[in-house]
Amino acid sequence: MPSFEEEVRDGLASEPRSLPCRFFYDEIGSKIFEEICELEEYYLTRVERSILRDRADEIASAAPANATLVELGSGSAEKTRLLIEALIRKQITLRFVPIDISRSALIESSEGLLLDHRALEIAAICAEYDSGLRILDKAAGSPRMILWLGSSVGNLHKPQAADFLARVRETMEPDDRFLIGIDLRKERDVLESAYDDSLGVTARFNLNLLARVNRELAGNFDLAGFRFRAHYDEESGAVESSLVSLRDQKVEIGALGLQVPFREGESIHTENSYKYSLEEIDTLAAEGGMASEARWLDDDGRYSVNLLRPAD
Ligand code: AVJ
Repeated sequence: MPSFEEEVRDGLASEPRSLPCRFFYDEIGSKIFEEICELEEYYLTRVERSILRDRADEIASAAPANATLVELGSGSAEKTRLLIEALIRKQITLRFVPIDISRSALIESSEGLLLDHRALEIAAICAEYDSGLRILDKAAGSPRMILWLGSSVGNLHKPQAADFLARVRETMEPDDRFLIGIDLRKERDVLESAYDDSLGVTARFNLNLLARVNRELAGNFDLAGFRFRAHYDEESGAVESSLVSLRDQKVEIGALGLQVPFREGESIHTENSYKYSLEEIDTLAAEGGMASEARWLDDDGRYSVNLLRPAD
């Protein structure tokens, strides 16, 4: 994966300008993201947690017998705990393989889980998705239930999302299962307020990207010179986030020897958060060489947790 420096150089040189969302999550950004997850308007975390809480035993019984649980981007593993507990009820012991880029999140979540569960074995792996997938291929213990929560798939364009699933599929044996949380299409105003909340937490989350360029690459972005915007493109299904320049201005990135001019109204694209219909989820699964085996929604049909198996 290209470094922050390379991505900033490329992204700010291109038209339209962009900065990739995977750089949101430095220490400060990860804290702001946790704040987002507690917002009333950002329903995703809460609704996914409620599905996992209400249906944990059902989901566990749909998992292969004596499954090892592998999680991509486990973070605090706060929602995963619900599934871990259901799997321990079902199979008495459990091996859990959390994969995350944050060592501190892995250590903290693993210690907490181990303190509470004697029948749990954890093999934590500190890696990005890319190497994480390669490790998945080797990670011992089968059959496996591979978990990818939080609608993280929404950050990928449709073809890249299908590619990602296909790569997960390549690591799967016939008995393995893939459990993926995906946010669903819904009314524009609900989506736009989820991604542009009234307290401005998401705006701060995005502006931290500019602050990070200032901190790490000796930039001089004036954060007050940009406003945050989230727009739902109903056609593609993506909520598109961006930072819009409030005036004509020039920004210098010292470490790159780069000067970037902005016109008033010119934007830096920061993130896509794709929403899916149930048909689109089936298509995504099929394109990734998988098929839907079971699906759990909340009562209001806002969010989906999907159990996929390798297609024959
Ligand atoms: C972590 C990628 C699922 O797109 O909903 C939250 C990140 N961005 N608010 C999402 C995010 C703005 C989030 N994902």
